[in-house]
Amino acid sequence: MRLEELGKTLMSMTKGRSTVVVTDKNVEKLYLSRCVNSLKEAGFQVDQFVVEPGEESKSGRTYLELLNFLASIPLTRTDFLVALGGGVVGDLTGFAAATYLRGIEVVQVPTTLLASVDSSIGGKTGINLEVGKNLAGAFHQPLLVWQDSSLLKTLPEDIFKDGMAEVIKYAVLQDRMLFSKLKDVKWTINHMDEIIKTCVSIKRAYVEEDEFDHGKRQLLNFGHTIGHAIEKATDYEASHGSAVAKGMLAIAKIAKDQGWCNQKTVDEIREILHLYGFDLHILQTGKELYEMILSDKKRKGAVLDLVVPYEVGDCRLKAVTIEELKGLLWDSEFEI
Ligand code: GLY
Repeated sequence: MRLEELGKTLMSMTKGRSTVVVTDKNVEKLYLSRCVNSLKEAGFQVDQFVVEPGEESKSGRTYLELLNFLASIPLTRTDFLVALGGGVVGDLTGFAAATYLRGIEVVQVPTTLLASVDSSIGGKTGINLEVGKNLAGAFHQPLLVWQDSSLLKTLPEDIFKDGMAEVIKYAVLQDRMLFSKLKDVKWTINHMDEIIKTCVSIKRAYVEEDEFDHGKRQLLNFGHTIGHAIEKATDYEASHGSAVAKGMLAIAKIAKDQGWCNQKTVDEIREILHLYGFDLHILQTGKELYEMILSDKKRKGAVLDLVVPYEVGDCRLKAVTIEELKGLLWDSEFEI
């Protein structure tokens, strides 16, 4: 769906006639005018709010600046926001929409692969606090997610790779056919639309069944428990995708050691991640990663739902106590 069609489509979906497009300085240069023109040509009154690229913009300060900007226009309760960008812009804009005037509509226009297949879908929004990522947030479903995969053509390689970690996650989670297709990198490059559609429909099913993340949706965290620990241990120097890639292999190895999956599953996961150029060395010890997981403010009490691969295409939730997790991690060797 071309970005140029966005305005026309929205005209028939919303009563709002004013909008603010939120984006970052990188995306501003590439796509902001196309997005704004599409909305203006359809008859919307459009303002824009441009943030610095990067995680720092998911801050309380930028969030308040954005709210004050919306109030200065002023945007009313029937109006809406457009998040044009990757995960940072999507989460920040979604959270502003969830809270401004107690909630206005938001339209997500993802411009990264990670945002296309994950963060723009499912309504998780939020900002970071000083002590951790995503500690303030809300569930706020978008009015529309506008996927124009041609916008991904300008992605730098490392940003594309970050999204591929999430694509591989979906394949290992429940789609062996996608997993087999991904073994051909050329096929992947030429079939981005199909890949995004497949990943979105997988995620949509989890969200529809468990919107507020109390059960099945947690399966989408495959590779994320150890991945988040790695991100945190590196003070967020490691990108989300690169950490999740390591996390997926690490949990597969633990699963193999526990007899939950076989060596073939570990090898398959390692090979596909290698194919997409992921460095799978984990520099932290199991003990360090355990400490990081323990300090995660989003942990639910003394039990953790680990996402365990039984084989490619079949992952399951396994409740482990903090004590059991200690045993699993402290005893683990993470060498590739
Ligand atoms: N990124 C995982 C979820 O949306 O639940």
